[in-house]
Parts: sequence; structure tokens; C-alpha cells
Amino acid sequence: MIRVGVVGYGTMGQVHSQAYQEINDVELVVVADPDPEQRAQAQRDFGVDVVSNIEELLQSSQVDLVDICVPTYLHETILTQAVESKKHIFLEKPLARTLEEGERMLKLAEGYEQKIGVGHVVRFTPAYTGIRESLLQGEIGQAAVARTFRGGSQFPKGWHDWYADFDLSGGVILDLVIHDIDYLRWLFGDVERVYAKTTHGRTTAHLEWAMIVLRFKNGVIAHVEGSWTNYPGDFYTTVEIAGRDGLIKYDSRNVNPIITTTLGETGERAGVTVPENPAAKSPYLVEIEDMIGAIREDRDPLVTLEDALGTLRVALAAEESARLGQVITL
Ligand SMILES: NC(=O)c1ccc[n+]([C@@H]2O[C@H](COP(=O)([O-])OP(=O)(O)OC[C@H]3O[C@@H](n4cnc5c(N)ncnc54)[C@H](O)[C@@H]3O)[C@@H](O)[C@H]2O)c1
Repeated sequence: MIRVGVVGYGTMGQVHSQAYQEINDVELVVVADPDPEQRAQAQRDFGVDVVSNIEELLQSSQVDLVDICVPTYLHETILTQAVESKKHIFLEKPLARTLEEGERMLKLAEGYEQKIGVGHVVRFTPAYTGIRESLLQGEIGQAAVARTFRGGSQFPKGWHDWYADFDLSGGVILDLVIHDIDYLRWLFGDVERVYAKTTHGRTTAHLEWAMIVLRFKNGVIAHVEGSWTNYPGDFYTTVEIAGRDGLIKYDSRNVNPIITTTLGETGERAGVTVPENPAAKSPYLVEIEDMIGAIREDRDPLVTLEDALGTLRVALAAEESARLGQVITL
């Protein structure tokens, strides 16, 4: 039996907690959250023990795996505490808010005997894994150009509106576009140069848009767009890849019949969109199954802390490029 403690019971803490219910010999035993409403919600949802912080979580129960779903700027602090207690760790993306935090986390994890995985969920999303398989099988020959889009109108409105504070969330690039940056790195390897434009600082945080051009070491050029400025309710993602012998294209608007967006001007949880396809297994369940498999089979999870740091480095280079108006060479 693998016993799990979830830290942070907001949007993602709830999604992860649900996933643990669906895996054999895994039990969600405790949830930590400073917000009494979220603790009450966790009790109602799963009848688990609830505590108000990670210290109590680590003291109060025999937890094997700590699943960290707190706002991004708290990732390093909470991960450090979990490492000191020698637990397996699953951490939501992005790895950290800054490169310095991410590098300290990598150092902390050097020689760590337990598993650490990071939730870059696009690597577990069926259409995206299918595209990767096609590329690996050479169906479109040598890839040359990739285009991705990810966005919607509903700005995510988390705990105390932390997404709206660029210093805490990193805005649309670090929070949203990083999904595609990670995916493209998984397809094409290391990035050599980055150039980006964003609306950051020109509009409100609730209306952010970014366009990034990535040049990979293998020669591929990617055009990566992310937006919190779309028509209401219209969250979708697309991928197009052009290769020497063909093209691949995906558009989530054609395949996700259920799109849940929590609307409302006032609610703290408003605005996080979770697309669902009842015909497909939730990618959040698949990523957590991979993490459980890594613990049971004594192997690395698909997305290691080192991978997540590589992705964070590219996302932060894009932010720097947008800020300076210059190409950044990595
Ligand atoms: N993979 C994805 O698709 C995806 C989607 C949304 C968010 N995320 C990431 O997940 C993380 C959480 O985002 P969210 O939307 O769930 O945030 P949220 O604001 O909905 O929830 C955060 C929760 O953490 C709790 N919290 C705050 N400080 C805490 C502490 N010290 N200890 C324990 N709990 C604490 C808050 O009370 C809140 O319930 C972020 O890093 C975000 O970037 C990933």
C-alpha cells in the first residue's frame, strides 16, 4: 500500500486526490491546507484526515508519497520539507518560480534515494503522446516546423488571486505556455535560442498573451502561442508539425466534448479550465499512475526534476527575451 498526503487542496489538489482513488493499493490518507474551507471540502470529498500545514502532515501520519499542489512560489519551500522527511514526492508544474529556486531544488535532490516526479501533464495526454509516436516512427520524416497554441478567456483565479501576481505565478508563460515548451523539448530536445513577445505590463495580468519562437539544437523552429485573452469559454489547444514527408495536426476543439470552466467574478476557484474527454483516461490519472509505477518499479518517473528544470530554464529565457526585446541564447 502506498499512502499519500496531498499538500494544497485547490484546483489541482482536488484533481490529484481524485486520481488516487482510482489506483489499486494506493490510499489518500491526509490533506494539508491552511484554508478551513478547503480542509472541509477534502473531508466531504474523501473522508480523509485534514491538517493545516505540511509540518503536521509529515508528523501526523505515515505518508509514503507527498503530492505538492500549492501555488508555484511555494514549491521550493514545501519540497524541501518533504525531502528532509525522506518522502517520495510528486510536484505540480512549473518546477519553481525562479531559476535559482529550481537549481537549489536540483541540488537538494542529488543522490536522493526516493522518487521525485513533476506534473508536466501534456506528456501524458493521448493526442500529444500519439503525435510523438508518429514522429518517432518517421511518419512525416524529419520535422522542420512546429506550431502550438494553448489558451482561453478565463484567467485562473486561485487562492488569494495568486495567479494575478506575476512575481508569484510567472504569468502566462510560466503557468500556461510552459506545458507546450515541455512537450516540444520532449519531442525535439534542447533549445538553442528563444525570442518572445508578451503583453505583460501593457494590459492587466488577467489579459495576458505570449508568442515565443524556439530554435532547437536539432534545427526545428517552433512557434508557441499562449493566451488568457480568448473569447469566453473557449479554452483549447492545438499542435501542428510539418516534416519533410508530411504534416500532423491536432485541435482539441474537435475531440473534447466536456470542457469545465468555473465561471464567476468572485469565487476564488474561478477560471481554471479542465478539458475532458469521457472516451479517454484523464491524463492527470495517467501521470500519477506513472509516479506510482516509478515507486513500485524503482525507476525514474517520466518527468524528472532535472527535466522540469530544463523546461523552466526555457520558459524563463522566454520571459527574459520579452522583457529585453532580445534573442536569448541558452
Ligand atoms: N498541470 C496542470 O494542468 C495545472 C493546472 C492548474 C494549476 N497547475 C499548477 O498547480 C499548482 C497549484 O495550482 P492551483 O490552481 O491548484 O492553485 P489554487 O490556488 O487553486 O490552490 C492552491 C491551494 O494551496 C493552498 N495552500 C496555500 N499555501 C499553502 C501551504 N503553505 N501549505 C498547504 N497548502 C497551501 C491554498 O489554500 C489552496 O487551497 C500551481 O503550481 C499551478 O501552476 C497545474
